[in-house]
Amino acid sequence: MMTLLRGGDVRALARAVSLVEDGAGAGAGLLAACRAAGRRALRIGVTGPPGAGKSTLVDQMAKWLRRDGKTVGVVAVDPSSPYTGGALLGDRIRMQGFAGDAGVFIRSMASRGVMGGLARAAEDVCVVMEAAGRDVVLVETVGVGQDEIDVVHLADVTVLVLVPGMGDEVQSLKAGVMEAADIFVVNKGDREGADLLEAEITGMQGLGGGAGWVPPLVRTVATVGAGVGELMAAVERCAAAKRGGLRRVLAGLGEKTGVGALRLDHLGVAVRSIAAARRFYELLGMEVGHEETVEHEQVRTAMLALGESRVELLEPTAEDSTIGRFLAKRGEGLHHIAVHVEDVDGMLERLKEAGMRLVSELVRVGAGGHRYFFVHPASTGGVLVEIVGDAAKGDA
Ligand code: CO
Repeated sequence: MMTLLRGGDVRALARAVSLVEDGAGAGAGLLAACRAAGRRALRIGVTGPPGAGKSTLVDQMAKWLRRDGKTVGVVAVDPSSPYTGGALLGDRIRMQGFAGDAGVFIRSMASRGVMGGLARAAEDVCVVMEAAGRDVVLVETVGVGQDEIDVVHLADVTVLVLVPGMGDEVQSLKAGVMEAADIFVVNKGDREGADLLEAEITGMQGLGGGAGWVPPLVRTVATVGAGVGELMAAVERCAAAKRGGLRRVLAGLGEKTGVGALRLDHLGVAVRSIAAARRFYELLGMEVGHEETVEHEQVRTAMLALGESRVELLEPTAEDSTIGRFLAKRGEGLHHIAVHVEDVDGMLERLKEAGMRLVSELVRVGAGGHRYFFVHPASTGGVLVEIVGDAAKGDA
């Protein structure tokens, strides 16, 4: 069964979910095997009051993900659902929207009287779907009770769906749901009152303040799919911002691609004086987040945040250092671009095997504890490329 499941067999997945939900001996053993498989999908929670159009939105998100080539699992937990107690029939109706597409697997769960708690049961189903190789799991739940809030905490990224004209219902939502929201969606955004609702949400956000991720607000009309692309872009940004979560996610997705997602980590700029050069960037509104002298490179570095990337100012601490020599020869300017990878060692091996010219054949530890190596401009089209991974120790 485990072999079929891991191979992505949909019938095996359906049987496995049923077994695990029953919670009997066979189910427990299977669940343990699924956990041991250690696969992890991106979990997107979609929550909100009854009538907000969550199911329609989730279906649209699933369609978007399918177009993006991802396989999808849906765990729907909703006490107001017409198919609670008749979950299988409901799933079958819903699946018709994905007729013939094995890349979408939907499972509804009754939200009352689940052994061991709803969140636990929903998590078990997530684990089974992940073991079956689903790239993304959408967890749909109504955001009214404590049980449902617990479900929200399963997600890497939580989307709170609201609709215009709910009046006091926004107020009646549990504070925990508002706080858990990473992204606000104003669904049925073509309706009267959408502006008012947006203002209300923005007002509440103003009270929160705080550093880090600021939940964006996205307007959708789920029935026609409007705004779904924007929503999914926000989900991706949020997942990227939550580094820890992303690292786990990429470790799972990377298994499939063999690479993991890449991103521009930073641009390295050689300067004579950080103190002089930083002024311009600070005028732009960028802030120095981290300053450090890397002894073995004889360089002082200052990192300035630039969205998800950074600018790294490099000032030599000795004339006869790499940056010192660069300055003498070329003057101030762009020194390198740094690409972030999940597996630095794996990438080093891959590039070596392909005959790429490396500046040194070792992975080193630089500013902030990050591990890196450099690829020579002779192999990259004339620019020095740094391949950088996460800090040497520590896990999400
Ligand atoms: Co660098």
